[in-house]
Amino acid sequence: MPAAVARHAELLTYRPEFPLLNASVYLNTCSLGARTERSRRRLDAFLADWDALGARAWYGRWLGELDALRDDFGSVLGVPGAEVSLAPNVSTALAVIASALDPIHRGHPAALGRLREAGLPVGDGPRTRVITTALDFPTLGHQWLAREPLGVELVVLPSPDGLTVPVEAFTAAIDERTALVATGHVYFTTGARADLERLATVCHERGVLLLVDGYQATGILPTDLAATGVDAYVSGTLKWLFGGPGTAFAWVRPELHDALRPTTTGWFSSARQFAFAVDELELAPDGRRYELGTPSVPSAAIARGGMELVREIGVERLGERTRDLGDRLIGLAEHAGLAVAAPRDAELRGGIIPIRIADPKPVVDALAADGIIADYRPGIVRCSPAFYNTDDELRLLVEALDRVVPGADRVS
Ligand SMILES: Cc1ncc(COP(=O)(O)O)c(C=O)c1O
Repeated sequence: MPAAVARHAELLTYRPEFPLLNASVYLNTCSLGARTERSRRRLDAFLADWDALGARAWYGRWLGELDALRDDFGSVLGVPGAEVSLAPNVSTALAVIASALDPIHRGHPAALGRLREAGLPVGDGPRTRVITTALDFPTLGHQWLAREPLGVELVVLPSPDGLTVPVEAFTAAIDERTALVATGHVYFTTGARADLERLATVCHERGVLLLVDGYQATGILPTDLAATGVDAYVSGTLKWLFGGPGTAFAWVRPELHDALRPTTTGWFSSARQFAFAVDELELAPDGRRYELGTPSVPSAAIARGGMELVREIGVERLGERTRDLGDRLIGLAEHAGLAVAAPRDAELRGGIIPIRIADPKPVVDALAADGIIADYRPGIVRCSPAFYNTDDELRLLVEALDRVVPGADRVS
């Protein structure tokens, strides 16, 4: 085995837990992580509880499972589980957080006052602008594009090098009308990693909040949210947490809970959920204030299977092996004359290795015909080896790309 991928090779003993790895050469974890048999066992237990207990399963089992899931997420974000909010997907989590900013966009004096009490130097004027980047996932910007008729303006920063957006570009774009910077921890097409600590400092000095989409980071970048200084963070289980669709989560810095009161809400947000009082809404004092309605318990069961594995292995080891495999893939691809569009320095990357190809769809289809699953986005074939991939699989991928990628897409 090449030295580059020898570190943590012991993790390959987990491969038999993932049925998908027998069916294909799977290199698309950044889109959907493979499923472990632990998820099937937990899903079976959910169905058995439903059959045995009916609605009593809520109190006997399921509410406890949801708390355990919040703890799971807290453990990979470095925060207590009670600070975590569950959501069915990142878009919903974002919509709830965006709703809490509406009074700030309008310049509501009480809302601005609460931000000042939380230590953010905001003035008295409305803060109508939100800054994102051209590299971010669309649902992030869309929350504020949808508010344009309400006078909200979305500013989209271009990427000077096509890989990342420097902190200086955010600094230059922020002004006294800016309410929020909303950007990714790891960009979903280029795999480049943002410098959250510096970004948080720049934002806070100017009275601006920082919201981060961590979907492509959680599970491979050890993250201590309180230490990063970010104000809100959203992520989910589809990808590097091996937890499938239907489960996402949010975190809002507890010191901001009072200043960021959601106006999109539901009975799970209520401090007294089981009082069933339609005429009162006191928001829960913890992360539940950003939740909405009945969570998908089967999705939570599947997600807990992935989280059990992630906690057992640890994000540190998962991340190191993922980046080692990335280094190896970059080396193999460049040796074959393919143009890699990812940062070379593993410290500046998540797990995505994009390969520039003008018309990527036929290439990805040809790979699939060979049993190799990768992904595409405009102008790139997106490859994302995870801890369970082998060196042989990387070689198969590059050999197949070498066969099917047109000469015009090669670098000389
Ligand atoms: C960075 C990023 N954000 C968000 C999403 C998905 O958001 P949602 O959970 O709303 O489908 C993805 C991938 O699907 C992603 O890569």
